[in-house]
Amino acid sequence: MTIILGIESTAHTFGIGIVEDGKILANIKDGYTTEKGGIIPKDSAKHHAEIKYEVYKKALEESNINEYKIDAIAFSQGPGLAPCLLEGMKFAKELSIKLKKPLIPVNHCVAHLEIGKITGAKNPMMLYVSGANTQVIAYESGKYRVFGETLDIGVGNFIDNFARYAGIGFPGGPEIQKLAERSETPQAYPEKSSRKIFTKGNYIELPYKVKGMDISLSGILTNLKQKFESEKYVLSDLAYSLQETVFAMLVETAERALAHTGKKELLLGGGVACNTRLQEMCRIMCRERGAKLFVPENSLLVDNGAMIAFLGEIMFKKGIKEKPTRIDIKPRQRTDEVDVKWK
Ligand code: ATP
Ligand code: FE2
Repeated sequence: MTIILGIESTAHTFGIGIVEDGKILANIKDGYTTEKGGIIPKDSAKHHAEIKYEVYKKALEESNINEYKIDAIAFSQGPGLAPCLLEGMKFAKELSIKLKKPLIPVNHCVAHLEIGKITGAKNPMMLYVSGANTQVIAYESGKYRVFGETLDIGVGNFIDNFARYAGIGFPGGPEIQKLAERSETPQAYPEKSSRKIFTKGNYIELPYKVKGMDISLSGILTNLKQKFESEKYVLSDLAYSLQETVFAMLVETAERALAHTGKKELLLGGGVACNTRLQEMCRIMCRERGAKLFVPENSLLVDNGAMIAFLGEIMFKKGIKEKPTRIDIKPRQRTDEVDVKWK
Protein backbone atom coordinates (compact mmCIF):
# COMPACT_ATOMS: atom_id res chain seq x y z
CA MET A 1 0.00 0.00 0.00
CA THR A 2 1.44 3.33 -1.07
CA ILE A 3 -0.05 6.71 -0.26
CA ILE A 4 1.20 9.76 -2.15
CA LEU A 5 0.21 13.37 -1.64
CA GLY A 6 0.47 15.66 -4.67
CA ILE A 7 0.69 19.46 -4.74
CA GLU A 8 -0.27 21.53 -7.79
CA SER A 9 0.61 25.23 -7.88
CA THR A 10 1.80 26.14 -11.40
CA ALA A 11 -0.63 29.01 -12.03
CA HIS A 12 -4.12 29.94 -10.76
CA THR A 13 -4.85 26.73 -8.93
CA PHE A 14 -3.56 25.51 -5.60
CA GLY A 15 -4.54 21.87 -5.37
CA ILE A 16 -3.78 18.88 -3.18
CA GLY A 17 -4.57 15.33 -4.16
CA ILE A 18 -4.07 12.08 -2.27
CA VAL A 19 -3.71 8.81 -4.15
CA GLU A 20 -3.46 5.29 -2.80
CA ASP A 21 -2.34 2.60 -5.24
CA GLY A 22 -3.75 4.46 -8.23
CA LYS A 23 -7.01 5.32 -6.52
CA ILE A 24 -7.87 8.97 -5.86
CA LEU A 25 -8.78 9.46 -2.20
CA ALA A 26 -8.97 13.25 -2.30
CA ASN A 27 -8.69 16.03 -4.87
CA ILE A 28 -9.18 19.47 -3.32
CA LYS A 29 -8.41 22.77 -4.97
CA ASP A 30 -8.81 26.48 -4.60
CA GLY A 31 -8.35 28.93 -7.47
CA TYR A 32 -6.98 32.45 -7.49
CA THR A 33 -9.32 34.73 -9.38
CA THR A 34 -9.17 38.38 -10.38
CA GLU A 35 -11.91 40.70 -11.48
CA LYS A 36 -9.97 41.89 -14.50
CA GLY A 37 -8.79 38.41 -15.31
CA GLY A 38 -5.08 38.74 -16.03
CA ILE A 39 -2.95 36.69 -13.67
CA ILE A 40 -0.44 38.54 -11.48
CA PRO A 41 2.06 35.81 -10.52
CA LYS A 42 2.93 37.32 -7.13
CA ASP A 43 -0.74 37.68 -6.16
CA SER A 44 -1.49 34.15 -7.24
CA ALA A 45 1.47 32.92 -5.16
CA LYS A 46 0.11 34.90 -2.20
CA HIS A 47 -3.25 33.19 -2.67
CA HIS A 48 -1.51 29.79 -2.62
CA ALA A 49 0.34 30.69 0.59
CA GLU A 50 -2.85 31.82 2.29
CA ILE A 51 -4.95 28.83 1.32
CA LYS A 52 -2.45 25.96 1.60
CA TYR A 53 -3.24 24.79 5.14
CA GLU A 54 -6.97 24.88 4.51
CA VAL A 55 -6.64 22.85 1.30
CA TYR A 56 -4.30 20.39 3.05
CA LYS A 57 -6.71 19.97 5.95
CA LYS A 58 -9.65 19.37 3.61
CA ALA A 59 -7.66 16.82 1.60
CA LEU A 60 -6.78 14.89 4.77
CA GLU A 61 -10.41 14.96 5.88
CA GLU A 62 -11.69 13.85 2.50
CA SER A 63 -9.24 10.95 2.26
CA ASN A 64 -9.74 10.05 5.88
CA ILE A 65 -6.07 9.25 6.42
CA ASN A 66 -3.59 10.19 9.09
CA GLU A 67 -0.93 12.48 7.59
CA TYR A 68 1.86 10.25 8.91
CA LYS A 69 0.59 7.46 6.63
CA ILE A 70 1.72 9.46 3.59
CA ASP A 71 4.74 7.80 1.95
CA ALA A 72 5.99 10.71 -0.16
CA ILE A 73 5.11 14.21 -1.29
CA ALA A 74 4.93 14.92 -5.02
CA PHE A 75 4.81 18.47 -6.34
CA SER A 76 4.64 20.31 -9.67
CA GLN A 77 8.24 21.24 -10.41
CA GLY A 78 7.40 22.98 -13.71
CA PRO A 79 6.58 24.40 -16.15
CA GLY A 80 4.75 27.33 -14.61
CA LEU A 81 4.99 30.73 -13.01
CA ALA A 82 8.06 30.88 -10.76
CA PRO A 83 6.44 32.57 -7.71
CA CYS A 84 3.57 30.06 -7.78
CA LEU A 85 5.87 27.05 -8.23
CA LEU A 86 8.05 28.28 -5.37
CA GLU A 87 5.08 28.45 -3.03
CA GLY A 88 4.10 24.86 -3.88
CA MET A 89 7.65 23.61 -3.44
CA LYS A 90 7.99 25.45 -0.14
CA PHE A 91 4.92 23.68 1.20
CA ALA A 92 6.14 20.34 -0.18
CA LYS A 93 9.45 20.79 1.64
CA GLU A 94 7.68 21.82 4.83
CA LEU A 95 5.60 18.61 4.75
CA SER A 96 8.62 16.53 3.76
CA ILE A 97 10.52 17.71 6.84
CA LYS A 98 7.54 17.46 9.17
CA LEU A 99 6.49 13.97 8.06
CA LYS A 100 10.08 12.82 7.37
CA LYS A 101 9.09 11.64 3.89
CA PRO A 102 10.84 12.16 0.52
CA LEU A 103 9.85 14.48 -2.30
CA ILE A 104 8.98 13.57 -5.88
CA PRO A 105 9.40 16.31 -8.52
CA VAL A 106 6.67 16.01 -11.17
CA ASN A 107 6.33 17.63 -14.59
CA HIS A 108 2.92 19.27 -14.81
CA CYS A 109 2.27 18.53 -18.50
CA VAL A 110 3.26 14.88 -18.19
CA ALA A 111 0.95 14.61 -15.16
CA HIS A 112 -1.95 15.82 -17.34
CA LEU A 113 -1.12 12.97 -19.72
CA GLU A 114 -0.52 10.22 -17.19
CA ILE A 115 -3.75 10.83 -15.25
CA GLY A 116 -5.52 9.81 -18.46
CA LYS A 117 -4.51 6.23 -17.63
CA ILE A 118 -7.25 6.32 -15.01
CA THR A 119 -9.79 6.41 -17.86
CA GLY A 120 -8.28 3.29 -19.41
CA ALA A 121 -6.05 4.92 -22.04
CA LYS A 122 -2.89 2.84 -22.52
CA ASN A 123 -0.74 4.52 -25.14
CA PRO A 124 -2.50 7.74 -26.09
CA MET A 125 -1.73 10.86 -28.04
CA MET A 126 -2.82 13.72 -25.80
CA LEU A 127 -4.40 16.96 -26.88
CA TYR A 128 -3.45 19.18 -23.95
CA VAL A 129 -5.39 22.43 -24.08
CA SER A 130 -5.22 24.71 -21.05
CA GLY A 131 -4.70 28.41 -20.39
CA ALA A 132 -0.99 28.65 -21.05
CA ASN A 133 -0.41 25.35 -22.83
CA THR A 134 -1.58 24.00 -26.15
CA GLN A 135 0.28 20.88 -27.19
CA VAL A 136 -0.13 17.53 -28.84
CA ILE A 137 2.09 15.22 -26.80
CA ALA A 138 2.76 11.53 -26.38
CA TYR A 139 5.27 9.10 -24.99
CA GLU A 140 7.38 7.63 -27.75
CA SER A 141 10.82 6.04 -27.99
CA GLY A 142 11.79 6.70 -24.39
CA LYS A 143 10.59 10.29 -24.09
CA TYR A 144 7.50 12.41 -23.87
CA ARG A 145 7.48 14.25 -27.17
CA VAL A 146 5.74 17.39 -28.34
CA PHE A 147 4.37 16.65 -31.79
CA GLY A 148 2.66 19.98 -32.21
CA GLU A 149 1.98 23.11 -30.24
CA THR A 150 0.85 26.71 -30.42
CA LEU A 151 3.43 29.01 -31.94
CA ASP A 152 2.20 31.95 -29.88
CA ILE A 153 -0.49 31.89 -27.17
CA GLY A 154 -2.28 29.02 -25.43
CA VAL A 155 -5.87 28.36 -26.49
CA GLY A 156 -7.34 29.02 -23.01
CA ASN A 157 -5.55 32.37 -22.77
CA PHE A 158 -6.73 33.14 -26.30
CA ILE A 159 -10.36 32.48 -25.35
CA ASP A 160 -10.03 34.34 -22.03
CA ASN A 161 -8.39 37.30 -23.77
CA PHE A 162 -11.22 37.65 -26.29
CA ALA A 163 -13.85 37.13 -23.60
CA ARG A 164 -12.32 39.86 -21.45
CA TYR A 165 -12.16 42.18 -24.48
CA ALA A 166 -15.85 41.52 -25.15
CA GLY A 167 -16.65 42.21 -21.49
CA ILE A 168 -17.72 38.67 -20.63
CA GLY A 169 -15.45 38.19 -17.61
CA PHE A 170 -13.07 35.51 -16.47
CA PRO A 171 -12.62 32.64 -17.06
CA GLY A 172 -14.00 33.11 -20.55
CA GLY A 173 -14.17 29.49 -21.74
CA PRO A 174 -17.48 28.41 -20.17
CA GLU A 175 -19.17 31.72 -21.12
CA ILE A 176 -17.96 31.56 -24.72
CA GLN A 177 -19.34 28.02 -24.91
CA LYS A 178 -22.76 29.16 -23.64
CA LEU A 179 -22.80 32.07 -26.09
CA ALA A 180 -21.78 29.82 -28.98
CA GLU A 181 -24.69 27.52 -28.25
CA ARG A 182 -26.99 30.49 -28.78
CA SER A 183 -25.72 31.20 -32.31
CA GLU A 184 -28.66 30.20 -34.44
CA THR A 185 -28.67 30.64 -38.23
CA PRO A 186 -27.91 27.38 -40.02
CA GLN A 187 -24.85 27.81 -42.17
CA ALA A 188 -21.52 26.43 -43.16
CA TYR A 189 -18.26 25.47 -41.47
CA PRO A 190 -14.66 26.74 -41.53
CA GLU A 191 -14.02 26.62 -45.25
CA LYS A 192 -10.36 25.71 -45.19
CA SER A 193 -10.73 23.05 -42.52
CA SER A 194 -10.03 19.57 -43.75
CA ARG A 195 -12.84 18.39 -41.53
CA LYS A 196 -16.30 19.52 -42.41
CA ILE A 197 -18.50 19.54 -39.36
CA PHE A 198 -21.99 20.93 -39.64
CA THR A 199 -23.78 22.45 -36.71
CA LYS A 200 -26.57 24.92 -36.51
CA GLY A 201 -24.71 28.16 -35.76
CA ASN A 202 -24.07 31.19 -37.89
CA TYR A 203 -20.50 30.80 -39.05
CA ILE A 204 -18.46 33.92 -39.72
CA GLU A 205 -15.26 33.36 -41.66
CA LEU A 206 -12.12 33.62 -39.51
CA PRO A 207 -8.47 33.03 -40.39
CA TYR A 208 -7.51 29.34 -40.16
CA LYS A 209 -3.89 28.88 -39.05
CA VAL A 210 -2.42 25.39 -39.04
CA LYS A 211 1.22 24.75 -39.92
CA GLY A 212 1.87 21.03 -39.94
CA MET A 213 1.08 19.99 -36.39
CA ASP A 214 1.43 23.51 -34.99
CA ILE A 215 -1.16 26.24 -34.75
CA SER A 216 -1.09 29.99 -34.36
CA LEU A 217 -3.78 32.01 -32.57
CA SER A 218 -2.72 35.64 -32.21
CA GLY A 219 -3.83 36.62 -35.74
CA ILE A 220 -7.26 35.11 -35.13
CA LEU A 221 -7.49 37.02 -31.85
CA THR A 222 -6.78 40.33 -33.61
CA ASN A 223 -9.31 39.48 -36.31
CA LEU A 224 -11.98 38.62 -33.73
CA LYS A 225 -11.37 41.86 -31.83
CA GLN A 226 -11.68 43.87 -35.07
CA LYS A 227 -14.93 42.10 -35.92
CA PHE A 228 -16.25 42.76 -32.42
CA GLU A 229 -15.29 46.46 -32.64
CA SER A 230 -17.00 46.86 -36.03
CA GLU A 231 -20.36 46.17 -34.37
CA LYS A 232 -21.45 44.30 -37.49
CA TYR A 233 -21.65 40.96 -35.76
CA VAL A 234 -23.62 39.32 -32.98
CA LEU A 235 -21.34 38.23 -30.13
CA SER A 236 -22.82 34.73 -29.97
CA ASP A 237 -21.97 34.24 -33.67
CA LEU A 238 -18.40 35.36 -33.02
CA ALA A 239 -18.20 32.96 -30.06
CA TYR A 240 -19.57 30.15 -32.23
CA SER A 241 -17.16 30.91 -35.08
CA LEU A 242 -14.25 31.11 -32.65
CA GLN A 243 -15.02 27.63 -31.33
CA GLU A 244 -15.68 26.05 -34.74
CA THR A 245 -12.50 27.48 -36.25
CA VAL A 246 -10.05 26.99 -33.42
CA PHE A 247 -11.36 23.59 -32.37
CA ALA A 248 -11.21 22.42 -36.00
CA MET A 249 -7.56 23.50 -36.00
CA LEU A 250 -6.90 21.55 -32.79
CA VAL A 251 -8.68 18.47 -34.11
CA GLU A 252 -6.71 18.66 -37.35
CA THR A 253 -3.35 18.73 -35.55
CA ALA A 254 -4.39 15.93 -33.20
CA GLU A 255 -5.48 13.83 -36.17
CA ARG A 256 -2.22 14.46 -37.98
CA ALA A 257 -0.28 13.40 -34.88
CA LEU A 258 -2.35 10.20 -34.65
CA ALA A 259 -1.66 9.46 -38.31
CA HIS A 260 2.04 10.27 -37.90
CA THR A 261 2.55 7.93 -34.94
CA GLY A 262 -0.03 5.28 -35.78
CA LYS A 263 -1.52 5.64 -32.30
CA LYS A 264 -5.12 4.59 -31.83
CA GLU A 265 -6.06 6.55 -28.70
CA LEU A 266 -6.68 10.24 -28.22
CA LEU A 267 -6.73 11.61 -24.70
CA LEU A 268 -7.94 15.08 -23.74
CA GLY A 269 -6.36 17.16 -20.99
CA GLY A 270 -6.41 20.77 -19.74
CA GLY A 271 -9.26 23.12 -18.82
CA VAL A 272 -10.35 23.85 -22.40
CA ALA A 273 -11.05 20.13 -22.83
CA CYS A 274 -14.06 20.67 -20.53
CA ASN A 275 -15.71 22.18 -23.62
CA THR A 276 -18.34 19.72 -24.83
CA ARG A 277 -18.21 20.99 -28.42
CA LEU A 278 -14.46 20.29 -28.56
CA GLN A 279 -15.13 16.84 -27.09
CA GLU A 280 -17.79 16.21 -29.73
CA MET A 281 -15.49 17.24 -32.59
CA CYS A 282 -12.73 14.99 -31.25
CA ARG A 283 -15.20 12.12 -30.93
CA ILE A 284 -16.27 12.47 -34.57
CA MET A 285 -12.67 12.55 -35.77
CA CYS A 286 -11.74 9.49 -33.68
CA ARG A 287 -14.77 7.55 -34.89
CA GLU A 288 -13.92 8.30 -38.50
CA ARG A 289 -10.38 6.96 -38.17
CA GLY A 290 -11.09 4.03 -35.88
CA ALA A 291 -9.44 5.59 -32.83
CA LYS A 292 -10.75 5.75 -29.29
CA LEU A 293 -11.33 8.98 -27.38
CA PHE A 294 -10.66 9.26 -23.65
CA VAL A 295 -11.98 12.21 -21.66
CA PRO A 296 -11.26 12.31 -17.91
CA GLU A 297 -13.86 13.99 -15.71
CA ASN A 298 -13.66 17.79 -15.51
CA SER A 299 -11.99 17.81 -12.07
CA LEU A 300 -9.09 15.86 -13.59
CA LEU A 301 -8.94 17.90 -16.82
CA VAL A 302 -8.25 21.21 -15.10
CA ASP A 303 -5.16 21.76 -12.97
CA ASN A 304 -5.40 19.53 -9.91
CA GLY A 305 -3.33 17.87 -7.20
CA ALA A 306 -4.59 14.33 -7.87
CA MET A 307 -2.76 14.11 -11.20
CA ILE A 308 0.48 15.17 -9.49
CA ALA A 309 -0.02 12.50 -6.81
CA PHE A 310 -0.97 9.93 -9.47
CA LEU A 311 2.22 10.40 -11.53
CA GLY A 312 4.17 10.84 -8.28
CA GLU A 313 3.10 7.37 -7.24
CA ILE A 314 4.21 5.81 -10.54
CA MET A 315 7.62 7.49 -10.13
CA PHE A 316 7.91 6.58 -6.43
CA LYS A 317 7.23 2.92 -7.17
CA LYS A 318 10.23 3.01 -9.53
CA GLY A 319 12.42 4.37 -6.76
CA ILE A 320 12.41 8.05 -7.71
CA LYS A 321 12.64 10.28 -4.65
CA GLU A 322 14.61 13.29 -3.54
CA LYS A 323 15.74 14.97 -0.34
CA PRO A 324 14.31 18.46 0.26
CA THR A 325 17.80 19.95 0.24
CA ARG A 326 18.53 18.74 -3.28
CA ILE A 327 15.66 20.07 -5.26
CA ASP A 328 14.48 23.21 -7.07
CA ILE A 329 11.66 24.40 -9.36
CA LYS A 330 11.94 24.30 -13.18
CA PRO A 331 9.66 27.09 -14.48
CA ARG A 332 10.60 26.51 -18.13
CA GLN A 333 10.93 22.75 -18.14
CA ARG A 334 9.82 21.39 -21.51
CA THR A 335 7.94 18.14 -21.90
CA ASP A 336 10.71 16.59 -24.02
CA GLU A 337 13.37 17.56 -21.46
CA VAL A 338 11.83 15.34 -18.79
CA ASP A 339 14.22 12.59 -17.81
CA VAL A 340 11.91 9.56 -17.95
CA LYS A 341 13.26 6.99 -15.52
CA TRP A 342 10.00 5.32 -14.63
CA LYS A 343 8.77 3.72 -17.85
P1 ATP B 1 -1.86 25.39 -17.29
O1 ATP B 1 -0.97 25.80 -16.18
O2 ATP B 1 -1.75 23.94 -17.59
O3 ATP B 1 -1.72 26.22 -18.52
P2 ATP B 1 -4.31 26.72 -16.43
O4 ATP B 1 -3.84 27.42 -15.24
O5 ATP B 1 -4.62 27.52 -17.59
O6 ATP B 1 -3.36 25.52 -16.77
P3 ATP B 1 -6.66 24.94 -16.53
O7 ATP B 1 -7.54 24.75 -15.37
O8 ATP B 1 -6.07 23.72 -17.13
O9 ATP B 1 -5.63 25.98 -15.96
O10 ATP B 1 -7.44 25.68 -17.71
C1 ATP B 1 -8.08 26.91 -17.56
C2 ATP B 1 -8.60 27.35 -18.92
O11 ATP B 1 -9.68 26.49 -19.33
C3 ATP B 1 -9.15 28.76 -18.93
O12 ATP B 1 -8.53 29.45 -20.00
C4 ATP B 1 -10.65 28.57 -19.18
O13 ATP B 1 -11.23 29.62 -19.92
C5 ATP B 1 -10.67 27.28 -19.95
N1 ATP B 1 -11.97 26.60 -19.90
C6 ATP B 1 -12.62 26.12 -18.83
N2 ATP B 1 -13.83 25.61 -19.18
C7 ATP B 1 -13.94 25.78 -20.53
C8 ATP B 1 -14.94 25.49 -21.51
N3 ATP B 1 -16.09 24.93 -21.18
N4 ATP B 1 -14.68 25.82 -22.79
C9 ATP B 1 -13.50 26.39 -23.14
N5 ATP B 1 -12.53 26.70 -22.27
C10 ATP B 1 -12.74 26.40 -20.98
FE1 FE2 C 1 -2.36 22.47 -16.53
